[in-house]
Amino acid sequence: MYDFSISTDQPADIFYGDLTSAASALVDGEPDAIANMANVAALIWQFVPDLNWAGFYRVIGDELVLGPFQGKSACIRIAMGKGVCGTAAATNQVQRVADVTAFPGHIACDAASRSELVVPVSKDGKVVAVLDLDSPLAERFTAADERGMTSLIAAIAGSLA
Ligand code: SME
Repeated sequence: MYDFSISTDQPADIFYGDLTSAASALVDGEPDAIANMANVAALIWQFVPDLNWAGFYRVIGDELVLGPFQGKSACIRIAMGKGVCGTAAATNQVQRVADVTAFPGHIACDAASRSELVVPVSKDGKVVAVLDLDSPLAERFTAADERGMTSLIAAIAGSLA
């Protein structure tokens, strides 16, 4: 078992620096993308407060397929361009949604979700997966969360596909 100690009681850039270092250490030298997604989802779940779902969807063919995650059992397949995840994958743009009920086409896998952050994972210029974070709190994700998660994913994207 890995035993990281990361304080949430510090500025967001320091917190995300620590989280990125831990994620990089977890995937270092490991070529299996599924194992790496599983460990990174568990790391985020352990240290990022106020989440009810954290995990990955992988791009397979022309749709997203559920990957490693923490939280309640979820929708398995999402069409490209549909919902928050499909929009992030189709546009290769981070989706930071303050209120999911106001997002046209939001897919409610867990009725408790109120806000959502989805970060595309790109390798060789192609979207290969998305990281999806859901919170039961409205407006949970700040611009600092978006920056921090985006740089975490950029640091390890090569190990996620
Ligand atoms: N809410 C997402 C679906 C995935 S679940 O939140 C785990 C969406 O609209 O794409």
